[in-house]
Amino acid sequence: MASARGQFSSRFGFVMAAAGSAVGLGNIWGFPTQAAGNGGAAFLLVYLFLAFTLAYPALMAELIIGRHAHANAVSALRLVSPNRALANIGATTGLIGLVVASLILSFYAIVAGWMMAHGLASLADLVGLAGVADWLTTHALPRNLIFMGLFMVCTIGIISEGVKSGIERWSARLMPVLLITLVLLVLYVLTLEGAMEGLKVYLLPDFSRALSPSLIIAALGSAFFSLSLGVGTMLIYGSYIADDENLPVVGGLVTLVDISIAVIAGFLVLPAMYVALHNGVEIFTQSGALISEDTLIFTVLPAFFETMGLAGIIVSLLFFFLMSIAALTSSISMLEVPVAYTIENHGVDRKLAVWVIGGGIALISTVILLNFETLFGFVISLTTRYSQPLLGFMFCIYAGWVWRRDEILQELKKGNPDAGDGLFWKIWPWYVKLVCPLIILAIFSQSLG
Ligand code: PHE
Repeated sequence: MASARGQFSSRFGFVMAAAGSAVGLGNIWGFPTQAAGNGGAAFLLVYLFLAFTLAYPALMAELIIGRHAHANAVSALRLVSPNRALANIGATTGLIGLVVASLILSFYAIVAGWMMAHGLASLADLVGLAGVADWLTTHALPRNLIFMGLFMVCTIGIISEGVKSGIERWSARLMPVLLITLVLLVLYVLTLEGAMEGLKVYLLPDFSRALSPSLIIAALGSAFFSLSLGVGTMLIYGSYIADDENLPVVGGLVTLVDISIAVIAGFLVLPAMYVALHNGVEIFTQSGALISEDTLIFTVLPAFFETMGLAGIIVSLLFFFLMSIAALTSSISMLEVPVAYTIENHGVDRKLAVWVIGGGIALISTVILLNFETLFGFVISLTTRYSQPLLGFMFCIYAGWVWRRDEILQELKKGNPDAGDGLFWKIWPWYVKLVCPLIILAIFSQSLG
């Protein structure tokens, strides 16, 4: 059975795939404005600290369980359980994770479709097709449906090629392109008038704001979403890692790449906003906070690009291209969750599974688009605010309490014979057992309030 499964062919391939999953819309449109509005560099430090102390251990729980089982979350949680009751709870957790991953994809594909449409609109502008560009940037059902569908077809196309020639190949291609595009954009924007103002807001620490409890909890929630935790994505990617790979090291690399890209994105988005302000674009909401999320991406930034003439069109093209790539390397990791389960546990052929499940998710996206006002926000908070932390809690419980510790150590030793003496083994076991579940519960109770 194990030999028929896909496997990443190299450490680079795995790190690109898992970092590709982690780096997504969350990093580029969520993190920078959150940091700017909440104490700048102080928030950055809190975020860095939390990412390594909470998100990294939770990521490791998924990677270790996945690699040990070489199977999807449903089978893996069953495997590490000592008795039938825990096995059933584990399998149910895996199944819920699979549904949540699919629901995350259903709203993600809609947003990613907007990114693609805006990117194409810049192309249309470039060749003088103003009418087409207008259509592409106007929020309307036909456009939304077409681009959601297009994005899903890209996701399906990659996943249907499997682990090595689909996920690994495309992540290894797209992630370096993403990084280069991001750095080029940063370098360009930093040369513009007003950029330094934005840098100041981003980098001057204001500890009085960054240390408020509600903020720390918000930072934790976004670290969780940012590392794709709780829905079995990292578990399934972990299941494709070779046995001789040193897990704490590769998990650390993934965390590092994810955080670095969020931090670099801050050097793009904040200066860009203040250049926009300098060019006469409004960047604050009525309450005085920085405009963020969809209004930032689809109103403020385009208005800013417009003030820059031809250069603006090219920057806009690059920016939305960057966002589309970031979204695609994340969406493939979401679709792989239900697909891997269907292939492994129900013996369905990969191509068939990918098209049927991908088609089903596109159908859910369609229902969301048809009832946008009621469903869009609802699905986002149901999945990311409530389900992800709770499922992450369960993964930590299985790694910390249910699975036998000597078996975990055995798994780690496959990639590093001295694992038992290392720092990771001194800290991680009690961390994932006590600290992570408690903090996740704190996030959860906060998000209920
Ligand atoms: N980590 C992705 C982002 O930051 C989102 C994601 C969540 C991906 C859950 C996979 C699973 O955008």
